[in-house]
Amino acid sequence: MGENYVVDELISAKAVAARVEALAKEISAYFRDTDKLVVIGLLRGSFIFIADLVRELDLPVEVDFLEASSYGDAMESSREVRILKDLRGEIAGRDVLVVEDIVDTGYTLKHVLEILATRHPRRMEVCALLNKPSRRETDVAAKWVGFDIPDEFVVGYGIDYAQRNRNLPHIGAVRFVE
Ligand code: PRP
Repeated sequence: MGENYVVDELISAKAVAARVEALAKEISAYFRDTDKLVVIGLLRGSFIFIADLVRELDLPVEVDFLEASSYGDAMESSREVRILKDLRGEIAGRDVLVVEDIVDTGYTLKHVLEILATRHPRRMEVCALLNKPSRRETDVAAKWVGFDIPDEFVVGYGIDYAQRNRNLPHIGAVRFVE
């Protein structure tokens, strides 16, 4: 893979904002009877999405974060996911919303949900901004999805390529050039 690339806009910042607002309305309605929703962002990619999403939620929320190890190339065969940074709070008996930037193969989300389920939340649902259905290798699914996207290498709005481009306000697709 070459190191020279350009980023083409795939989803504008305005379109993202409109979708986040719509998702937040649905989520607020779904959890309207919840005393205090625990919103869990999976680091690092979800940090911008969760920041915008919680500000649109019409609910009392607690915000927490969890960082799972990326299985990367070296761990491709095992697809194992470990917790690098755990939650600060308890989720037993609580209503939980897991916020993910992108679901690709689904291994990260599947393993994180399995780990969190052992802590016996009352209800646990997932909101993912982006979903790549064509890449899925597991049966995991987010209850709320911002956008289904093709198998593009995406960046921006929290998502990186080699730890760059997370700060783009829109979602872009990486295109490698000579
Ligand atoms: C990315 C993304 C998801 C995961 C999706 O995280 O944020 O967590 O990969 O891929 P999967 O569905 O194939 O498991 P990454 O490991 O790049 O870490 P980051 O969030 O810190 O950028």
